[in-house]
Amino acid sequence: MKELIRKTRRPRSGRNVLCCCYPDHTAPFLTTCQGESKLLFACGTLTPAPLCIHNLSGVGLNNRKKHRILAKLHIPTVSTVTAGSTFLEKNMENIAFKAMVVTETAEKTFVRTISDKHIEDLPTGEVLIKVRYSSLNYKDALSASGNKGVTRRYPHTPGIDAAGLVAASSNSAFKIGDQVLVTGYDLGMNTAGGYEEYIRVPASWVVPLPTGLSLRESMIYGTAGFTAALSCYKLIHSGVSKDQGQVLVTGATGGVGSIAVAILAQSGFDVAAVTTKIDQTPYLLQLGANEIISATDADDQSGRPLLKPRWAGVVDTVGGNILTTAIKTTRHHGTITCCGNVTSAELHTSIYPFILNGVSLVGIDSATTPMDHRLRVWDKLATEWKLTHLETITTELPGLEALDERIGLILQGKNRGRAIVKISD
Ligand SMILES: NC(=O)c1ccc[n+]([C@@H]2O[C@H](COP(=O)([O-])OP(=O)(O)OC[C@H]3O[C@@H](n4cnc5c(N)ncnc54)[C@H](OP(=O)(O)O)[C@@H]3O)[C@@H](O)[C@H]2O)c1
Repeated sequence: MKELIRKTRRPRSGRNVLCCCYPDHTAPFLTTCQGESKLLFACGTLTPAPLCIHNLSGVGLNNRKKHRILAKLHIPTVSTVTAGSTFLEKNMENIAFKAMVVTETAEKTFVRTISDKHIEDLPTGEVLIKVRYSSLNYKDALSASGNKGVTRRYPHTPGIDAAGLVAASSNSAFKIGDQVLVTGYDLGMNTAGGYEEYIRVPASWVVPLPTGLSLRESMIYGTAGFTAALSCYKLIHSGVSKDQGQVLVTGATGGVGSIAVAILAQSGFDVAAVTTKIDQTPYLLQLGANEIISATDADDQSGRPLLKPRWAGVVDTVGGNILTTAIKTTRHHGTITCCGNVTSAELHTSIYPFILNGVSLVGIDSATTPMDHRLRVWDKLATEWKLTHLETITTELPGLEALDERIGLILQGKNRGRAIVKISD
């Protein structure tokens, strides 16, 4: 290989040589000879990454000629290089890729297709990411089925989570080839999301892949796992400890619920799990729950403002009267986190649990979590909260086409654990 590189670098009469080196040594070397072009991948790079024209040294070639050669070879070019040798994409608009596109075909009628999109279709942003994995969350199912509370404008590509490699960046914090993930902010809501091979986002949304997690593992967590971790973090940092008694997780077989059960159990808490799927008791026991409670039993209809206190803390993912019941049954000075509304967006409660029992109700919003806390919580997921049961909760979908069926399940409340989707190799 060294010999090959030496040869291609050395100009000979009648032959023009272009060579280019990326900082990560994935550089292709180009040779052109009497009108013929040949691309030699020095380090085994099979898919051409975009080249910066100013980083190409050519003998006897001006920039126009360089562009022409690269176009012939179907290599996208970039024309600006920024500090730190990162690249701002330009002239890459013609790269085509697969995407899920949700279109409103008639009023309140939405159709999902797998279509071709191009880089030029993406929103502006500093970081272009080649997506390897995404995942399916409840919010994705809403966006993919035309819920205008989540996504105002269609056609739209959903996917609030994405993990992959930086393909281009104008921000010196990220360079080509970096492994990164994005969850939340506006991704997949009104910004084209992770159900496509490329996303382009502001650098301020991008999280470097935490050491200890693969791209695939990061998407097993995704927004659901990150939200579960935020909820557990809040419980623990509000003073709920494992020697204070049982903690409760509602919607326990769902994405957020499963991961919350597993994190708390792995951290030594005595976990009770509320589920509509009593037949999933073995699954919840495997995740570490000690007691399984049917959703009906956790849905108090007595109308009483307070019930016998049971829980040191609660991670609620479903809202509605199950949350109301959890608030009434939380012990003195306990904390309840709430993040979801699958049963209802309404919350009917009296003031008594708060002023007589001193309980705290804490809201979780994962999408807007500030970056410093975001990094802290991702680091916990990669270390002490890295689950031994990650594969137990995971279903891997082979591609975008497989999402349809799973979207139906999640909307019917029949989801179990986490579904991730392979977007590209
Ligand atoms: N605030 C945030 O930052 C944030 C982030 C992520 C998710 N969320 C919200 O959190 C909720 C859960 O998200 P997810 O991704 O975990 O969804 P999911 O995987 O679909 O889980 C929801 C679970 O809720 C339970 N459930 C569904 N319908 C129910 C019903 N009618 N009565 C009682 N329980 C019911 C089911 O578990 P069981 O059968 O075991 O009860 C279901 O698996 C959603 O509302 C989502 O929008 C919020």
